Amino acid sequence: MPKAAKSAPARLVLPQRPRRLRRTAAIRALVREARLSPAQLIQPVFIHEGKELEPVPSLPGIFRIPLARLGAYCRDLQKLGLGGVALFPKIDPKRKDALGREALNPNSLVLRAVREVKSAAPNFPIFADIALDPYTTHGHDGILTKRGDDVDNDRTVAILAKMAVLHAQAGVDFVAPSDMMDGRVGVIRRALDAAGHEETGILAYTAKYASAYYGPFRDAVGSKRTGQPPLSKATYQMDPANRREAMREAILDWSEGADILMVKPALLYLDIIASLRAHTHRPVAAYQVSGEYAQICAAAERGWLDLRAARDESLLAIRRAGADIILTYFAAAYAKGQ
Ligand code: PBG
Repeated sequence: MPKAAKSAPARLVLPQRPRRLRRTAAIRALVREARLSPAQLIQPVFIHEGKELEPVPSLPGIFRIPLARLGAYCRDLQKLGLGGVALFPKIDPKRKDALGREALNPNSLVLRAVREVKSAAPNFPIFADIALDPYTTHGHDGILTKRGDDVDNDRTVAILAKMAVLHAQAGVDFVAPSDMMDGRVGVIRRALDAAGHEETGILAYTAKYASAYYGPFRDAVGSKRTGQPPLSKATYQMDPANRREAMREAILDWSEGADILMVKPALLYLDIIASLRAHTHRPVAAYQVSGEYAQICAAAERGWLDLRAARDESLLAIRRAGADIILTYFAAAYAKGQ
């Protein structure tokens, strides 16, 4: 028997061996395509009128923060190198009404919070949601028509524009209309400019889908209706089946003056993130929403997923799809490497 055939198995003639680039950790790091830095992450933060940190059971590790502790909390987030904070108020239910009037109270919880953060951490970017759902008894993002079976788009937009100006006055760096009313970005831009707030930016929730994944958020801000089926926002938030429509929304927000375009949720909508990234030169953000976070945490609590590995993979996937900025409840933990 010929000697060679016995001792060495046949070698494939393979000029292309992709595994050469996966051989060691150092080589893998060298050829890695997508990276994630804490500077690209924004931490959503819930605030409340109480005095204590209040855990949100459906969002493990996330608390409603009292105003007295918010300044120090945000200074810590800034020290971690995060890109900013997005504030969400849980207001006293007694302050809610059908018209969401509390949204225009110049001393509302969120406006006091904005002032608190600005004085504690002046250079830390603050984002604030512009929508009426924390303020309405029915939980919709706008006020309702006379018949009560839909939101009144144009009257809602007029309120949102006033709300945006109040937020700019309080010191937010970006207002983030999350309501999905038609025409709101343009009206908000003009209102901000007319009030001398040319420097306040708009992060538009451009493609916000009518998703089942907002449940834990609605627990956190207290906008969930108890004992009733989940609220349908399908006449204003987008149909999860639609991709072309997201491009239409992007063109509108872009032409109305949005500075950053956002897709929400993130992981189930990576194709939308990728299309937006391919079709605009503006920064694209993605919101890894409460249900996405809760899902990973719940599986990890049962020992079915490794929390850190699943978290990091999910964030990297959102980056790889093309998001420049990610809003995620994991932001602080990711930056701490915990
Ligand atoms: C409100 C708003 C929602 C979220 C952000 N802003 C909920 C909703 O539209 O019902 C969801 C965020 C999350 O689930 O983490 N307009």
